[in-house]
Order: sequence, then structure tokens, then C-alpha cells
Amino acid sequence: MTLSITKLTPHVGAEIAGVDASREPDGATAKAIVDAWLEHGVIVMRGQDLTDDQQAAFAGLFGTLTERSRPVEKRNEGNRGEPDAYAGYTMLVTNIRKDGKPIGSLPDGDMMFHADLVYREIPSRATILYGIETPKAGGDTLFASLTAAYEALDDETKALVDGKYAKQGYHYGITHREDNEPLQSYVHPLVQVIPETGKKALFASRLMTMSIEGMDEAESDALLARLFDHIEDPRFIYAHKWRPGDLLVWDNRTTVHGRTDFDPKERRLLRRFATTGARPIPA
Ligand SMILES: [Fe+2]
Repeated sequence: MTLSITKLTPHVGAEIAGVDASREPDGATAKAIVDAWLEHGVIVMRGQDLTDDQQAAFAGLFGTLTERSRPVEKRNEGNRGEPDAYAGYTMLVTNIRKDGKPIGSLPDGDMMFHADLVYREIPSRATILYGIETPKAGGDTLFASLTAAYEALDDETKALVDGKYAKQGYHYGITHREDNEPLQSYVHPLVQVIPETGKKALFASRLMTMSIEGMDEAESDALLARLFDHIEDPRFIYAHKWRPGDLLVWDNRTTVHGRTDFDPKERRLLRRFATTGARPIPA
């Protein structure tokens, strides 16, 4: 494969042309794809046509697939009746309903910025999301760069966040923050260093970062509110408008993502795999 890599914004996102993700890339191509992912935080490959198994194999370039902790969703039209080998690993993000019940997860509306599985001891490394049915408008995925956000902090704020730890928590299935005690939570460094690049990332998100350790509630809430606004500054963001056949891979250590609202009458179906990371390393 001959790849061509184009940056989508100054700080985050690159489109890679020349990838057929249904085929196993040779070693040099695989390295170029993973390197682009590490450098840009999000990679976009358009025009793909992938079965579950092909998507899972491609996802394997970015680590070991994460088995789901929740009950496996029933197979459905989105998976096109393909073999069941990855049923415990795949998740459908969709508003499609059968007998009134969503056939997948996170069906409706907008969603606050977050990174996947940060409320576990071992968060996700990569998320690999494939668009099958996409609305004509809205339902965009927005990505913010946590490395650019960290670098842009003033020295005073860097001194405030460096060395701190924060509680990351989540209530399953929610798209907006709830401040009561989350179902699952874990305390991680507020600034983590990415071992492959040496870059520092501000590891926080509006949906999942609950509190900063060692600060009183008012001080923690005020600093977090300021950090969330900073991270979501448009200069750090790439907004992805989905088309069927889009394949995105993002780094949950260096980016957070959120979703814009969309018309509930339109169908939206995306298939997700994730890979298992390591415990974040304090910067
Ligand atoms: Fe997510």
C-alpha cells in the first residue's frame, strides 16, 4: 500500500489515503499507520468496507482487543450476519431500535467529551470506530488534543496540575455528567506521559473527571471547569463528519472525544472495538 497522510487541523487528526483496512498491511505500512496515529491522535480512513473480523484484525495493530465487561449485544443487521468470533469485543454505537429497545449503546443525542474506559485501572489505548449508517447532518465526533492542551497551559497552571491525581468515574450509558458517586472510578495522574513519544497529556474530560485529589471540592471544581473549557477550545479540536465507510482510530491517552446532537429520526450505526492500554504514567 502507498499511503498519503494529510493533517486535518494544526493539532489533531490526519486522514490517511491508500489504506485498505480489510487487508493485512505489510510491516512497513503497519508501522506507518501506527506512527501516524501516535503523532496525530486520530487517524481517518475513508471508503472502507469491513466485516467484524476484518475490523478486529485491523484494530489489533493498536494493541490487544479489550473484552467487554457488559453483556454482549445481540447480533444484528449492522454486523451483516457475520461469524461471531468477536462478539465479546465489539460494541455497536447506535440509535436503531428493535421492539422499542436500542440494539446497541449510547443511542441518542449529544455526548460530553471523554476518553474511553478511563474509569478503569487500565484505560483503553486505542478505539477503532467504523461508520455503517450515518445521519445526513449532526452526530459528528469532536476530538480535542490533550497534548496540545497541556502544552498551551501557562506555567502557573502547569505547576498546579503537574504531579496531581484525579478521580475518573462513569455511570454506564450516560452522555452527560452526573456528580453523584459513579458506578466505577479510578484515580489516575492528571498529567500523563506517553511512553512512545515522551509527550505530556492533560488527562481530563468534562464527562468523566470527577475531582482532583488533595484539593477541597470548590477548588477542584473551579480548576476542572477551567481545564475542561481550555481542552474544548476550538483551536484544539477536529470535528469529524461521518460518512458510511469511515474508519477512525483514536488514542484515548492523547485525545478526548464528544458528539454533537442529531435528528433522532435518522439512523446512526457505528461499530467499535477498543484495545487495552497500560496504567497511565505520571508525567
Ligand atoms: Fe467514547
